[in-house]
Amino acid sequence: MRGKGIRIEGLKKRYGKGDTAVDALKGVDMQVAPGEVVGLIGPSGSGKSTLLKCLGAVIEPSAGLMALGDEVIYDKGWKIRDLRALRRDRIGFVFQAPYLIPFLDVTDNVALLPMLAGVPNAEARKRALDLFKALDVENRARAMPSQLSGGEQQRVAIARGLVNRPPVILADEPTAALDSVRALAVIRILEQMASQYETAIIVVTHDEKIIPTFKRIYHIRDGITYEEAGEGRGVD
Ligand SMILES: Nc1ncnc2c1ncn2[C@@H]1O[C@H](COP(=O)(O)OP(=O)(O)O)[C@@H](O)[C@H]1O
Ligand SMILES: [Mg+2]
Repeated sequence: MRGKGIRIEGLKKRYGKGDTAVDALKGVDMQVAPGEVVGLIGPSGSGKSTLLKCLGAVIEPSAGLMALGDEVIYDKGWKIRDLRALRRDRIGFVFQAPYLIPFLDVTDNVALLPMLAGVPNAEARKRALDLFKALDVENRARAMPSQLSGGEQQRVAIARGLVNRPPVILADEPTAALDSVRALAVIRILEQMASQYETAIIVVTHDEKIIPTFKRIYHIRDGITYEEAGEGRGVD
C-alpha cells in the first residue's frame, strides 16, 4: 500500500503575513482511496488550486497532515527529503494550461518523462502512443505543440500527466477546453488508470459535462471542504 491513496487532515495554508495574510485553506479533511476518482468543486478563490499545489508539494502548507498511502509526507513540516523526486515519480499533474515544451514534438513531450524515469525509449513511446489513441490525438503524434489546437494541446498535456502511471493524479480543470465527447473520454481514461494502477485521482472542475460521472464529490468554500451528502450520485 505504500504511496497508494491520499489522506489529508486539518490542512491549512496561509499566504503572506500580517494585515495582508490570506487564509486560503482553513482545515481541510479529505480522503481518496486507491482506485478512486473524486471531484473537487468550488467557486473561484475557494482554495482548489492551493489544495492541489500543497498535495503536489509545489507549495508548503502552514499546518496539518498529508499522507500518501501509509507514508506521511507532511506533518507540520515535510517528512520526506526529496520533494523533487516526489513530484516527478509519484504525482501526475494535469494543469489547465498545457505547458508543452515548444521545441519537442508531441510524442517526445510525453515520452520524455518515462525516459527520465528509466523506462526504455521504445516502451516510453509506446505508452505515449497508447494514451494518444485513447485521447484521440494519435494523428498528431509527430506534430509540434504550436501546430495543435487548444483542445489537442490539452489532451497531450493530459497524456503527459498520466504517462508515468503515478499513484496520485491531480487534475485542475482538465476538460475546460474540450467538447463533451472528449471531456467524457478524459474521465473514462482517468477511471481506467485508477482501477488498473490503483491511482488516487482528484479532479478540480466546474464542468457540468463531467460532474455527473463522479461517484464522490468534495465541495470547497472559503478554504473548507465538505463531502457531498447523500447516496446514488449519477452513474456513468
Ligand atoms: N500566491 C498567492 N499569494 C497570495 N494569495 C494567494 C496566492 N495564491 C492564491 N491566493 C489566494 O488564496 C485564495 C485561494 O486561491 P486558489 O487556491 O487559487 O483558489 P481557486 O483555485 O479555488 O480559484 C484566494 O483568495 C487567492 O486570492
Ligand atoms: Mg484555481
